[in-house]
Amino acid sequence: MPEPRVASMFDSIAPVYDRMNTIMTAGLDGRWRRAAVRAARLTSGGSAVDVACGTGKLTCALAMAVGPIGRVVGVDLAPAMIDEARRAYGDLVQIEFVEGNALALPFEAGSFDAATIAFGLRNLSSYEQGFREMTRVVRPGGRVVCLELTTPRPKVFGRVYSSVFGRMAPFVGTAFKRRDAYAYLPHSLEGFPSAEELAETMRSVGLVNVTLRRLALGAVALHAGQVA
Ligand SMILES: C[S@@+](CC[C@H](N)C(=O)[O-])C[C@H]1O[C@@H](n2cnc3c(N)ncnc32)[C@H](O)[C@@H]1O
Repeated sequence: MPEPRVASMFDSIAPVYDRMNTIMTAGLDGRWRRAAVRAARLTSGGSAVDVACGTGKLTCALAMAVGPIGRVVGVDLAPAMIDEARRAYGDLVQIEFVEGNALALPFEAGSFDAATIAFGLRNLSSYEQGFREMTRVVRPGGRVVCLELTTPRPKVFGRVYSSVFGRMAPFVGTAFKRRDAYAYLPHSLEGFPSAEELAETMRSVGLVNVTLRRLALGAVALHAGQVA
């Protein structure tokens, strides 16, 4: 999907995004985000960029890890998502939210200790370029972390999951008067690389010590790598 359409779709769901997320993940998304923060290995006074930050939940969790003398920047394409994030977390001194494109991040090389992306990668037109940009803006030795839906193994459970997910997302979307946007969700996983392929993409952009952890019975993958 072209970027202006992605941005306007997320603009349209911004006011209901957090509530829908909680329903669709049965409240488990908080646990997954905490795992992503741990994988970023931040310490007090550290810095991170949260790419495709949406309403800022992971950005806020990263901000807690670096504390008030740290720095965390949330970047997103959709202005209404950024507005929601600023409303919720804008008063934390260590947080800043900026509009920007994951494929051309508005930061100099080596600006951060870590870069994260949660449930944003599959919306990008190039996963490789997304990882390349996250790697560029992190200092050597720093971490690149990706939390994303994936199709679970084994195949039978994967098929059941896909069909439940395919029906549930538009249904919940209808309840919140956002059927079209949420009908898109299951399609965004079609053709999305497997977790192993994604790990390979991370290695191909120069990340080392790449690890892959499956969460939520394999429906969510947490990838992490180190900048060489
Ligand atoms: C499913 S939401 C995830 C939001 C948040 N990271 C979370 O975990 O809840 C995907 C986000 O990716 C953003 N996005 C999509 N394409 C983008 C791009 N090229 N650059 C920056 N953000 C993008 C959307 O605007 C949306 O806010």
